[in-house]
Amino acid sequence: MKASKTTNIPKISFTESFIDTKEMVKNPVEIFEKYRKRLGPTFEFRFGGLRKTIVTADPEFLKYVLKDNNDNYTKSHIQVKRFVEFQGVGLTNTHGDYWLRQRKLLSMGFTRSRLSEILPIQLKVLNDFMISFDQAAEKGKVDIHHEMVKFTLLSVGKSLFGSQMKEDELEKFADAIAEIQRFIVKKVVQPYLMPWYAISGQNRKYQNIRLEADQIIKNYVNKRRMEEGESSDILDLILNTPYKDTGELMSDEKVMTEILQLLVAGNETSTTASTWTFYILAKYPEHTDKIREEIERVFGNEKVNYNRLHQLEYTICVLNEAMRVYPPFWMIDREAIKDDEFNGFKIPAGTTVVPYIYGAHHNEEFWENPEVFDPSRFEAKKNSEVHPFAHIPFGGGPRVCIGQNMAKMQILLVMSAVIRKYHLTLINKEEMGLHAMMLLKPEGPIFIEFKKV
Ligand code: HEM
Repeated sequence: MKASKTTNIPKISFTESFIDTKEMVKNPVEIFEKYRKRLGPTFEFRFGGLRKTIVTADPEFLKYVLKDNNDNYTKSHIQVKRFVEFQGVGLTNTHGDYWLRQRKLLSMGFTRSRLSEILPIQLKVLNDFMISFDQAAEKGKVDIHHEMVKFTLLSVGKSLFGSQMKEDELEKFADAIAEIQRFIVKKVVQPYLMPWYAISGQNRKYQNIRLEADQIIKNYVNKRRMEEGESSDILDLILNTPYKDTGELMSDEKVMTEILQLLVAGNETSTTASTWTFYILAKYPEHTDKIREEIERVFGNEKVNYNRLHQLEYTICVLNEAMRVYPPFWMIDREAIKDDEFNGFKIPAGTTVVPYIYGAHHNEEFWENPEVFDPSRFEAKKNSEVHPFAHIPFGGGPRVCIGQNMAKMQILLVMSAVIRKYHLTLINKEEMGLHAMMLLKPEGPIFIEFKKV
């Protein structure tokens, strides 16, 4: 749908949008921040110099789009189209009744009690990971992103598929996903090359990669269908929980799509969040002493369990603050279905609206000295004063991240295990730059020295 006129919204001129297109591909956050600082939290610009887009870092506007009037704001059709091609039709790219039915069933995989059952799977992954991490730490400088890639894939992968899933298959699968993701981003950013993707055979190449990845899951799902007995992983739940309305089980095809989408949604995001968290802790190591003290107090010689993990109040503040400064999803996108109005801003049907998460997290009106890393912002008393949509690393409203508690659990686990054992020193001398594509990643490798406590 073609958007007609928006009114009253501060605008970036067509010429400036066009001139900034090249920089926008390189570092969109820098350009968005330039606009936000000049025009305020809500502004309009033309994406790729062409498509009218409203960007907002205003928590009230974010609440309106993501929660209060979310029925009028679907995920943008460009994203949906590109993702459906390679990920099938599932929770992350559907709307309305279909989405709600899938969401209700899949949510059961992420309840407190389910996560308590998944915890032993994650602890086993963590123990194995720490053996190789200790060896890496002993050698001197550790590429933390590289380590987090290893840990997260196994942690998310085995929570979803169960501990029997072979590591090399998970890795093959993840490599395929990463390749496909890069291609999808290319298609979103350079849509004018679409005919070339078809002629050069690239579309076919990536469809084949997708089919190979599918086959890995298909074999595994078939194997699991034949097995007797229960497991605590999420695949088991999806395979064996009937829909409430019809009493039917999910078809194999849907199971495959949903499990693929969960892995895609949960893997790189959690890797990115834990990488940034270690980066910021290595930069400000004074916080690690407090975390270590808390871990000793809460766990002592006791076994880690789900409830105790949630008593790590300060460590949770650190994670929240790290995800404020470096939100893995720096933006998401929506499209208005019908003409709408918010606070005097006219939003015609078809307009793309970008909930600009990084901007909200750095919005000076809601955060004092937003560039300063200060976990105390999230201490209970102060946190109650924070606007709920000023901190939305997991999104907000009905489509809030389904896996957020699982993500926090695994990041807290790896933080606890590493910080309990090691002092951190950042080796990089320069401030780490931002590389923002779909996710906000570090621009280069982060090296940290880990010395035994
Ligand atoms: C630190 C790690 C994570 C971050 C920062 C994150 C962030 C987000 C955000 C911002 C959204 C909302 C997207 C939108 O509204 O357009 C989202 C949705 C989603 N996330 Fe996460 N996520 C993380 C981990 C996970 C994990 C571990 C899983 C599952 C294993 C997961 C599964 C999903 C799914 C399925 C959705 C779509 C939900 C729906 O549309 O109903 N995420 N996530």
